[in-house]
Parts: sequence; structure tokens; C-alpha cells
Amino acid sequence: MKFFLDTANVEEIKKADDWGLLDGVTTNPTLIAKTGRPFLEVAKEIIEILGPERPVSLEVVATDYEGMVRQARELAKLGPNVAVKIPMTPDGIKAVKTLSAEGIKTNVTLVFSPSQALLAAKAGATYVSPFVGRLDDISMEGMKLIEEIVTIYRNYDFETEIIVASVRHPEHVRMSALLGADIATIPFATMEKLFKHPLTDIGLERFLKDWNSLPEDFKPDFLK
Ligand code: E4P
Repeated sequence: MKFFLDTANVEEIKKADDWGLLDGVTTNPTLIAKTGRPFLEVAKEIIEILGPERPVSLEVVATDYEGMVRQARELAKLGPNVAVKIPMTPDGIKAVKTLSAEGIKTNVTLVFSPSQALLAAKAGATYVSPFVGRLDDISMEGMKLIEEIVTIYRNYDFETEIIVASVRHPEHVRMSALLGADIATIPFATMEKLFKHPLTDIGLERFLKDWNSLPEDFKPDFLK
């Protein structure tokens, strides 16, 4: 299972990269706006950090077919690792079909139902992004959507990869892994929480306390 970071914050990206756990980055217009920086400056920095292999999702802001295709072609020129985020609309799906035929990677975003995910796969999308947290917010079962998309894609051997998006807590990540989702795109704060367990902290403290109770000459130099 791949871990993407759901952020446009370069410092967060560098930290997650330093952990050696970063397989890609997803952004959206809200996350870009949060940085308070010019779009191209931020996008180019992220693309460079990720290198040629790991994907960076950048979103179009046009809503008509021609506009989306035009913007997607420009975004794709920014780097070989750019996946263009296209909203789940009829024009969007038509644009995905055109862009897939041109070899441009796409990520269909704002997906909230299994049938929308089916359309994205049929159009040849590289990625589909079902938003689990926003479904949970309106008392619907976000992870049920993932379960159904996984089943549908397996039934027909679709190659579109499932990015679990709108992740809010470690439980979403655990359930994504159990269900066999390809990717979870995770906010930085949630990624940090994945490391945490109170028993790990208590256990480590006790091990070190017991070790320190040993006489100094019982310890080899390299363990002092
Ligand atoms: C997906 O790629 C989106 O950037 C993101 O996951 C949206 O999450 P939110 O519901 O927390 O805004």
C-alpha cells in the first residue's frame, strides 16, 4: 500500500520524505491556497522533491471540457510525475478519456459513489479519489464506498488505482489497508499519529530504565 501526503506544504513533504515513507503527494486548490504562495512556485518545488517517479497530483480549475484539457496539458508539462486532478463531472470524464489517450496521468477527484468510480475507470483514469471523511461528515459510511470500489475494480481488472482521500484519522488508514486500497493520501498530522502507541512509549521508557540500572562495566562501550 502506498502512502501519499495530502498537502501543498513543502516543509511537511520534506519531513515525510525524510521518514522514507513518501510515495506521492496530492494537492487541491484549498491546500494550495493555504500555503499563501504562488501556485507555480509551490508546484515546481513539490515536483522537484518527489523526483521523476513519485506522482504529484495538481488540480485543474476549469470546469468545461476544453478548459480542463488545456489546463491539464500545461500542468503535465511541469514534470513527468504530474497526475492531473480532474473533477468527477461529465465534462471531466470526457477530458480524462482524451488525456488518457495522450498518455497524461489523471486523478478523478470528488468521487462519492461506486458508480462514479466505475465511470472514472472506464474513462481510463490513472487514479480515482473517493473522499471518505466528507462522507463520514454527513453520516454516511466512507469506508463502505472503498470496499465497493475495490470489489468493482477487481471484478473487471481495472488498472485505475484507488486513492483513499479525505482521510481524517489512523482508522481510515488501517481500514484502507485491510480493504486492499492501493493508496491512502494522508494529511501530515494523521501520518504522524500512525507512529504513536502509548504502550510503545511506556515500553521504551521501561527498557531504558532497566538498562540504566545495570553497572556501567556490564555494558559494552558501543551500548553506553
Ligand atoms: C484529495 O486528494 C483531497 O485533496 C483531500 O483528500 C480532501 O480532503 P478533505 O475532505 O480533508 O478536504
